[in-house]
Amino acid sequence: MKIVRGEVEKGKLLKRYIGGEAIVEIYENVVVKRRIPKRYRVKELDELLRKRRTKMEIKLMNLARRQGVATPIVLDFDDDTIVMERIEGKAVRDVMNEDICKKIGRDLAKMHEVNIIHGDVTPMNMILKEGKIYFIDFGLSFVDSGVEPKGVDVHVFFEALKAYYDDWFKFKEAFVDGYLEKGDVEVIKRAEEIAERGRYVKRVSQS
Ligand SMILES: Nc1ncnc2c1ncn2[C@@H]1O[C@H](COP(=O)(O)OP(=O)(O)OP(=O)(O)O)[C@@H](O)[C@H]1O
Ligand SMILES: [Mg+2]
Repeated sequence: MKIVRGEVEKGKLLKRYIGGEAIVEIYENVVVKRRIPKRYRVKELDELLRKRRTKMEIKLMNLARRQGVATPIVLDFDDDTIVMERIEGKAVRDVMNEDICKKIGRDLAKMHEVNIIHGDVTPMNMILKEGKIYFIDFGLSFVDSGVEPKGVDVHVFFEALKAYYDDWFKFKEAFVDGYLEKGDVEVIKRAEEIAERGRYVKRVSQS
């Protein structure tokens, strides 16, 4: 990483993602994530919310790292923008295996231990680099000590596994193994209950 007069030399722009919430620009050395204004919101409120979300994203990314979860280092920020380390690795979605799933389970349990709810636990939001899994997107993260939001976090990951992989079942088992090394079994039970609720709603609406 080159730091020039206190400023990070970004390097060439390689790619730009335009999402619902943010524009993410991948440069050679850094990633710049800027929250985009929501036109339907009153300007002052919109600015306040974006500022708050940006602060929360940075705070929880750093807290997760202190817990031993790999996350990009924040290099700079302002009201709606985060400049962070670029993690050059492989998309976890493309290299998923049981070992990786177990590690993801361990990492999510570490976050839940300090009540970080990730909010978007999918293989799309993780990068594998040098054997470490980096959680790169804390854009929907918040703090809550409840079993329910933790269960939702786990449920969301299970749904992503089912959507992406034919052999999701063994991945799910590996994740649970990893999660239970430190995590609370009640959270896993709750995730199953949430899935059951979803199936029930589907059955009722079809009958
Ligand atoms: N630090 C990083 N290093 C390398 N690539 C990154 C990094 N951060 C983001 N990316 C890439 O950019 C994509 C989009 O980033 P991210 O997931 O943070 O945004 P998003 O999903 O659009 O935002 P939101 O948090 O609003 O859902 C990622 O899927 C990943 O491919
Ligand atoms: Mg994302």
